[in-house]
Parts: sequence; structure tokens; C-alpha cells
Amino acid sequence: MERRTIGAATLEVGAVGLGCMPMSWAYSGSRQRGEESLRAVHRALDLGSTLLDTADMYGPFTNELLVGRVLKERRAEAFVSTKVGLLVGEQHIVANGRPGYVKRACDASLRRLQTDVIDLYQLHRADPEVPVEETWGAMAELVRAGKVRALGLCAVGARAGRRPGARLHDTTIRQLERVQQVFPVSAVQAELSVWSPEALDVLLPWCAARGVGFLAAMPLGNGFLTGTLTPGEGFERDDLRARHPRFTAEMMAANQPIVATLRRVAHRHGPSVTPSQVALAWILTQGPHVVPVPGTKQERWVSQNTTAAALRLSPEDLAELATAPVAQGSWD
Ligand SMILES: NC(=O)c1ccc[n+]([C@@H]2O[C@H](COP(=O)([O-])OP(=O)(O)OC[C@H]3O[C@@H](n4cnc5c(N)ncnc54)[C@H](OP(=O)(O)O)[C@@H]3O)[C@@H](O)[C@H]2O)c1
Repeated sequence: MERRTIGAATLEVGAVGLGCMPMSWAYSGSRQRGEESLRAVHRALDLGSTLLDTADMYGPFTNELLVGRVLKERRAEAFVSTKVGLLVGEQHIVANGRPGYVKRACDASLRRLQTDVIDLYQLHRADPEVPVEETWGAMAELVRAGKVRALGLCAVGARAGRRPGARLHDTTIRQLERVQQVFPVSAVQAELSVWSPEALDVLLPWCAARGVGFLAAMPLGNGFLTGTLTPGEGFERDDLRARHPRFTAEMMAANQPIVATLRRVAHRHGPSVTPSQVALAWILTQGPHVVPVPGTKQERWVSQNTTAAALRLSPEDLAELATAPVAQGSWD
């Protein structure tokens, strides 16, 4: 698989990563499919998809434990990125950016991941109660201590229930400018997909201008852009899509023309090419610093998604994708 660099020339990863979140969090049925998930992670490494994206809060904790079982055997083949700063409470998810907490959380992640170094340590959300420089300073100390190789910042939905958009990205840029004064940012992670392209306006150019990598979260629109979901199909209560405004039957029907556009482009490349592969290939055309992290717990989807790295979209394909309608359904 093509390789891409995240932030610095020494941080090299396969062009398509693996989002491990659906193996333990956010999607219904996640918790029952551990063995299948393990096979999916192994398959990713077999195919050169080296970036494994997890977080301490996924599960909570079980996602790192799962990734750790693979790292124990294949650490040298993997690039592990995890996250700190969010805690799953009884009622709510809360931010904690206190320096002492961050250092303890890192040690706990290292234990769960069965490794002595995390390749990319990302701040999941800034804590409104703690100046971001203080949190970032603690993370920088972890780099100096050799526990972490590089730092990243996530910008996915600043407040629960809000989609990222112009306001979130303005806030993120201000945060990025502040933390850059403390220690270099190697990567930014934010939502980017054919139906959520807002990051192209400000965040991607900011990263490109500074040699910062960009991890595209939710690159398949939480599964919608794969074309495998049918409008009206119900989601269980523990599935994030049960509350997501774009996943009501009405909005799923209204957004079908976006999938149809992906499908038309896919057919141009042959009968076996899928909308998912086109959606990922589109992200890869947005810059050499961009790495999509499609989430899945299924080996078959890992195989399909990694193949997207070899799909070359033509100017005609890109022009057609640019005509896809703006997605309907918003958190606001
Ligand atoms: N930093 C943050 O705050 C943040 C927030 C959200 C996500 N993320 C990261 O981004 C990653 C990706 O986001 P995501 O997993 O929510 O959304 P996604 O990648 O857009 O979509 C995941 C969904 O698509 C399905 N899928 C994947 N490949 C498929 C294929 N080829 N054909 C059909 N269905 C397919 C998966 O099904 P199965 O699960 O059944 O395989 C899953 O339901 C996460 O794993 C996480 O690492 C980060």
C-alpha cells in the first residue's frame, strides 16, 4: 500500500488506516464481536494498513485492550494512535485535561496497549476548565519521557450533539495556534467525507501549510456512504445513528443522491468497485498529508477499504463527485 507521512518524515503509515472504534463503541452489536474484530486488525496489518486508531474512552478501555492483543504480537508492523481527555461517566462523557490525569491516563493506555510507546497521542477534547497549554504541556512531557512519539489534536464535535462546521473549525484553529507555541502538532483528526467536507475550507489548508498530518474521521459517513444501509432501517438505542439527524428514515432517503453519485463513479472503474472505495479515494485526493481512518470490525470491509488506496480518480470522477448534493440533516 502507498505510504504517507504524518507530521514528520519519521512517522510513516499506510495511506488508509483502520478506525477501531466500531469494535467496542458507538455502533450496536460492537461488544459481542471481539474475535471478528481481532481478525480485522490482523487483516489490516497484513495489507499494510498500519495506522490503528483507538481511544481510552472507546469501550471504555476495551478497545485499547483489544488493540493491545494484536500489538503484543505485531508491534513493529503497527502505528498506534490513541486519545486522552474524555471520561465516560454514569450520565455523561466529561473532559479531563488536568496534567496529572493526562500522565496517569497515558501510563494506563500503555499497559492496555501492551507497548512501551504510543506513536500518536491525541487530545480527544480540550477541557474547558483547564487552559489547553497546560494539558498540551503534560502531553509534551510524555514525548520527552519517551512514552509518546508525537502529538495530535482532535476536532470532532466540540459539544455533544453538534456536528463540526465552520464555528468548530475556527475554535480548533485558535487551539492549534495556542498549542503550537508549547510543542509541535503532528496531526489533526476531524470529520471529513463526501457528505461532511467542511474541513476542506480551513483545517486541511492549515495542516498542509505547516506539514501537519490530517486523519479523516468518519470517512464513510458512519456507514451511510457505503450504500449498504437502507432508509428506514432501525438502529438500536446504543447505536450513535439512532440519535443522528442524518439517519432518520426521511434524511436517509433525502441523501440517497449522494450515494448514487458515488455509485456512478464506482461503476466507471469496474463492477467490483464500491461506493466506499470511491468515498475513501476522494479523501486521499485531498492532499498527501491526509489519511482516512475508516472504522470497521469486519475483515471483509478492511480488505475492501484498503484497496481504495490503489483507486485513482480521474478529473472527470472528481468533477462528478463535486456535483453531489449537499447533505441534508443537521444537529443545529
Ligand atoms: N476523534 C474523534 O473524536 C473521533 C470521532 C469519531 C470517529 N473517530 C475515528 O474515526 C474512525 C471512523 O469513524 P466511524 O467508524 O465512526 O465511521 P465510518 O468509518 O465513517 O463508518 C463506520 C461504519 O461503516 C461500516 N463500514 C466500514 N467499511 C465498510 C464497507 N466497506 N462496506 C460497508 N460498510 C462498511 C462499519 O460497519 P462495521 O462496524 O459493521 O464493520 C461502520 O458501521 C473511528 O473508528 C475512530 O477511530 C474519531
